[in-house]
Amino acid sequence: MSTFAAENHGLVRVRDFLQRASLNNIMQTVFGRRFEDGSEDAARLSEMVREGFELLGAFNWADHLPALKAVDPQNILQRCAVLVPRVTSFVQKIIDEHRQQVTKAAEPDFVDVLLSLDGEDKLEDADMIAVLWEMIFRGTDTVALLTEWIVAELVLHPEIQSKLRDEIISLAGKSRVAESDLNKMVYLQAVVKEALRMHPPGPLLSWARLAIHDVSLAGHHIPAGTTAMVNMWSITHDPSVWSEPEKFNPERFLEQDIDVKGTDLRLAPFGAGRRVCPGRALGLATVLLWTARLVQEFQFQADSLHPVDLTEVLKLSSEMATPLLVKVL
Ligand code: HEM
Repeated sequence: MSTFAAENHGLVRVRDFLQRASLNNIMQTVFGRRFEDGSEDAARLSEMVREGFELLGAFNWADHLPALKAVDPQNILQRCAVLVPRVTSFVQKIIDEHRQQVTKAAEPDFVDVLLSLDGEDKLEDADMIAVLWEMIFRGTDTVALLTEWIVAELVLHPEIQSKLRDEIISLAGKSRVAESDLNKMVYLQAVVKEALRMHPPGPLLSWARLAIHDVSLAGHHIPAGTTAMVNMWSITHDPSVWSEPEKFNPERFLEQDIDVKGTDLRLAPFGAGRRVCPGRALGLATVLLWTARLVQEFQFQADSLHPVDLTEVLKLSSEMATPLLVKVL
């Protein structure tokens, strides 16, 4: 990043770095391999993830007006029909390589773990492909987007950035922050929690849920067949739940510690219950580590020609409408 910044008058579009890093990070965990920048595999994979996001985030009129299903006016079914076999063949190749141990890694990766399941737990290839793809798909953008929001808030609040840097330096010095340091960094945890509150990457959790029975929820009758959404964004911005909800104030989490992994519904950015995010520990640890290392290494400052714009755009995740462009020193 520093070389790039030096070559570009100190200005960096952080999203580009974060998205590449995030894809590689998840590929390493799930498939046990990284993809060279500019390689054909890396380009195919990013393009498939992007297409998947567009399709899942699109409002499909045919879901709501069944008469349109046969016409597929937005071409959504057609695009899914093209994407599914591409994903299947990409992931199947990686499973086959693991079976033949072409890519033998020192540490078992997630594919090795799935392949080692036996007896009643044994998975068919089709199920493995679904699980693996879901992890890549769900684990890539969320981490990159959240980190971009964090850097944006740190640029807007230099005093918070410098307090955070002080904590990191006092606990890790100049040595690269390690995962084992994270638990001690209480202010870092507070900053990340506050970013999850202000900018939950999945503001509607998994978008839609279908009631398969009649249900009564908080006094409301929800008939079977209803599609419902959980608006986590609205809860995390509700003034009856949070004081000064529009203020980025990590200190609130120093005053009261709130679990973000699904036990406290005031702040459940990973969902809760049976469909809670299975990657929450990994996602959280990654964002904490990246934030700590970025702040330890660099100073982020606003550029007068490109002010930070906190406007959100709701795609499958909630992202910055204007990609963040900052000075990196
Ligand atoms: C900061 C990072 C992340 C955030 C904020 C996040 C958030 C979420 C949310 C809100 C859901 C929907 C929960 C619900 O509907 O109740 C979800 C589901 C899911 N997440 Fe994450 N996630 C993150 C990282 C990851 C990572 C790193 C992985 C994989 C390694 C992952 C894998 C999944 C999967 C597979 C699901 C679907 C679970 C299901 O449908 O049952 N996520 N995530």
